Amino acid sequence: MTPKKTGSTRKKSKKSFKNKELVSHPRKKPAPKAVTKAAKPRIAVRRSPIHGRGVFAVTDIPKGARIIEYTGDRISHAEADRLYGDLHDGSSHTMLFAATDKVVIDATKRGGPARWINHSCAPNCEANEEDGRVFIDAIRRIPPGTELSYDYNLVLEERHTPKLKREHPCRCGARNCRGTLLGKKR
Ligand SMILES: C[S@@+](CC[C@H](N)C(=O)[O-])C[C@H]1O[C@@H](n2cnc3c(N)ncnc32)[C@H](O)[C@@H]1O
Ligand SMILES: [Zn+2]
Repeated sequence: MTPKKTGSTRKKSKKSFKNKELVSHPRKKPAPKAVTKAAKPRIAVRRSPIHGRGVFAVTDIPKGARIIEYTGDRISHAEADRLYGDLHDGSSHTMLFAATDKVVIDATKRGGPARWINHSCAPNCEANEEDGRVFIDAIRRIPPGTELSYDYNLVLEERHTPKLKREHPCRCGARNCRGTLLGKKR
């Protein structure tokens, strides 16, 4: 992890309105819509005691369940650095997920709910990459009301000095909290 809708105001021209292709076909009676029961959402975005907004289970989520995909704009690492490099100086807030060596998922503008999942040093989820896509999976049973979390394991290019760790503080509250969102350098 490193750190549009259009509307049309087109006028109907008389010429195009007379066009047979546009108006001469009788309307077919629409087929009745199948009544389907919407799947009950398993998660909800709410205020988090860890930081800002977080994602919470609203139903019991079994261990091993694939909960949600981390979605957003797919950009290159260079593009992520260009867009957010300066912004992230002195700030640890990021909505970027380095999916592969080539692709960063940028959830800043067009991200799904997974972007609100906070980090924990004692997480109940993990992020798994498959074919360049990132999924959040439960690594243990998650009862309703529990906040979802995974280990961000942030790895920065520079040395993870005590100062850098302090600049990325962790407030997960776990007994084994390592105090920083930074992970181990490989
Ligand atoms: C993808 S956002 C997660 C959603 C975030 N809570 C929000 O409201 O924007 C990631 C950012 O949330 C903050 N964050 C996540 N987990 C944290 C934790 N355990 N302790 C402190 N800050 C955390 C950090 O600023 C991190 O860069
Ligand atoms: Zn922690």
